Amino acid sequence: MPKDGNLQSKIEYAFSIQPERFRAYAFSDTESVSANDLETAVEKYKETGFVVLDINNVTDLHSLPPHTILQTIGGIFDLGPLYTPKQYSAKEREQFYKKGVNKIVAGDTKLHSNFYSASNQKIHADGTLDPFNAVRTAMLYCVKPAIEGGENSVFNLVGALFDLHKENPKLAEALFQRDALTKFSPSNPSLDEVTDSAFAFDAEGRIISRYSDSEEYCRWSNDPLVQEALKFMRERLISSDEPKRNVEFKLLSGQILIMANNQVAHSRKAFVQSDNNEREMWRALFAKDLTALSLEAY
Ligand SMILES: [Fe+2]
Repeated sequence: MPKDGNLQSKIEYAFSIQPERFRAYAFSDTESVSANDLETAVEKYKETGFVVLDINNVTDLHSLPPHTILQTIGGIFDLGPLYTPKQYSAKEREQFYKKGVNKIVAGDTKLHSNFYSASNQKIHADGTLDPFNAVRTAMLYCVKPAIEGGENSVFNLVGALFDLHKENPKLAEALFQRDALTKFSPSNPSLDEVTDSAFAFDAEGRIISRYSDSEEYCRWSNDPLVQEALKFMRERLISSDEPKRNVEFKLLSGQILIMANNQVAHSRKAFVQSDNNEREMWRALFAKDLTALSLEAY
């Protein structure tokens, strides 16, 4: 990678080493992969930054409690220990986390405005108050889908940035400004806000992202270039034009969405449920990238 190059040459280098996955790939394929075919799952994940893994036909796994399933999948993909986000105090950790995994059901939003809400969740990367690139992998396991709604979307952030760079390189640069995006905790305003760029480079020179776009916990810089870049990203990320930079689908029972949290973002539509038919999801976060399989753990 260019060590002392200017920002433009770093961006160009990053795109040159990420050609298939983010430049050419249109987000459209959401077909799940059986957990019996993990090699295909990794291949698909590397192409697009996410994969939907189906564990329904893997009895050994499917019969385990949700947090153990996610922990086991993390082990299979060599993701190291579960990661607990910074914004949860010790007390909240007990409330929301079971061995680093949290259950997402609609309920009392006073307990947690996001996890217990049935409303839509706008485009975001998980780990709101965590340092850039701290949460590299996120998993969402569906025990029971909503009766209606609750679809997830995955957004190809790097692909959208590529489109922006093609159109106006200066605007793409603006999203690398170190004060471009501030995130804060709406439920706990006493916690420190985190201000950083929306995009950056990892040690290998690849583009990584913390792009999120919800007024509830995001504040973008007023710099005119940042604002113009944001306008482009908003349009591009929900555009139906090709190449398509987003895809929407509904996770079914026994499916796990695995995402590169530092490469793609996600969102959720509002949903409805009844008292005896609750939507039930479980989320796990990991600090490591999913790059390999460790089949011994399985
Ligand atoms: Fe999320």
